[in-house]
Amino acid sequence: MINALAYSQQLLDKLVNKFYDGNFVDGTIGNGHDIHRIVSNKHFKGHAYGFDIQEQALTNTKRKLENINTSKYTLINNSHENISNYFEENHTFHGAIFNLGYLPGGDHSITTRGESTLKAVEFISRHLIKGGQIILVVYSGHESGKIESQEVIDALSKYPQDDYQVLTYQFINQINHPPYVIVVEKL
Ligand SMILES: C[S@@+](CC[C@H](N)C(=O)[O-])C[C@H]1O[C@@H](n2cnc3c(N)ncnc32)[C@H](O)[C@@H]1O
Repeated sequence: MINALAYSQQLLDKLVNKFYDGNFVDGTIGNGHDIHRIVSNKHFKGHAYGFDIQEQALTNTKRKLENINTSKYTLINNSHENISNYFEENHTFHGAIFNLGYLPGGDHSITTRGESTLKAVEFISRHLIKGGQIILVVYSGHESGKIESQEVIDALSKYPQDDYQVLTYQFINQINHPPYVIVVEKL
């Protein structure tokens, strides 16, 4: 078995290979590892939109993407909860990744919150094409992460099963609350 982060990367690679000319969102670019994974996939001909509230994250991500053609991505210094401001109502998404929590090595008080995470997930899920997925890596080991994890689980478990499949990938016998993955797939 592989850990949550590796599992999320495996899913993301599969999704990008499948929808190589699709629209992707990285809801929390941080140091840019996930958006880099999308746009550096050799099959990728679509567009990736990356959000982060920290300017430092955009600076770090720009550096990470310096060898990638800028026509492949857009970096947005805003909260993902405002995602609806950037897209028309008829826009479609093929995939999204949210690596929740705080920036490793950064300010631990700047962290994702359930309410804003869910606003973004709800918007993307309404515009997701059939077979498209939203992948979330959830950290419940710190205080606000625990609250966010519960809020996200509560909301996503109510998504109608005729329209979406929602699963968790989680080790249940490990100490210290290791991260886990939630996947929302449009049917
Ligand atoms: C765990 S880090 C992401 C790591 C990143 N995926 C990577 O590959 O390096 C979480 C990031 O979410 C950002 N963040 C927190 N709240 C946010 C929000 N409402 N909208 C967008 N980004 C947010 C933080 O600034 C932080 O950079």
